[in-house]
Amino acid sequence: MEIEKKERKISVAIDGPSGAGKSTLARAAAKELDFLYVDTGAIYRTAALYMLRRKAAPESAGETAALLPEIDISMTYSGGIQRMLLNGEDVTDRIRTQEVSMAASVVAAHPPVRAFLLEMQRNMAKEHSVIMDGRDIGTVVLPEADVKIFLTASSEVRARRRCLELEQRGTSREFAQLLRETRERDENDSRRAASPLRPAPDAVALDTTEIDFQESLARIIQIIRERAGL
Ligand code: DC
Repeated sequence: MEIEKKERKISVAIDGPSGAGKSTLARAAAKELDFLYVDTGAIYRTAALYMLRRKAAPESAGETAALLPEIDISMTYSGGIQRMLLNGEDVTDRIRTQEVSMAASVVAAHPPVRAFLLEMQRNMAKEHSVIMDGRDIGTVVLPEADVKIFLTASSEVRARRRCLELEQRGTSREFAQLLRETRERDENDSRRAASPLRPAPDAVALDTTEIDFQESLARIIQIIRERAGL
């Protein structure tokens, strides 16, 4: 009798503070390994964009929770690129402003917002082999992930990278201001009571302060191959 083989779904969690290079590295690693890349920050950003548009105060748990039933978020993939749909509208580019970054960090602290977005993230990993990046993937979203990586870099290096990224998009910002905002987001993301940013006990830590993109990518792929037995 033939035993039916179910394709094994592998899940990789990459967590860390904003600007540590998670999304660029996770996307490149997913391409190399032929996994689906899921950017969970984009989901929080999409929810935050809706709150901003409806003029809800991002810091108000009540105001933001009241708007959740009006929000329908979905993700589609075109050419390996994750696109975000908010009530059917493609907001992929609109969620990348600094205003949305700051609001996402505040909105993400409210437990009802996190609960609302949790199932959607878990479902992605049920259906595909994924590399998912965020703040609480290894601790809360996918505690059983096959591989967990905690990516860090100094706040100066992260603000510098953000500065370059904004410059390339033609929306330059002053470095000192970006450094302040990077630290503010670190505070919001790590100090909140609900699913704070922290490494899972079984995560492999990787500090990219002193290493460039190619080396970071090579290390990540090596960690995934070793831990997932690929
Ligand atoms: O990764 P990012 O900068 O796009 O994320 C935007 C904000 O969303 C971030 O400041 C914190 C929040 N976030 C979260 O709380 N949990 C996640 N899994 C991903 C993002």
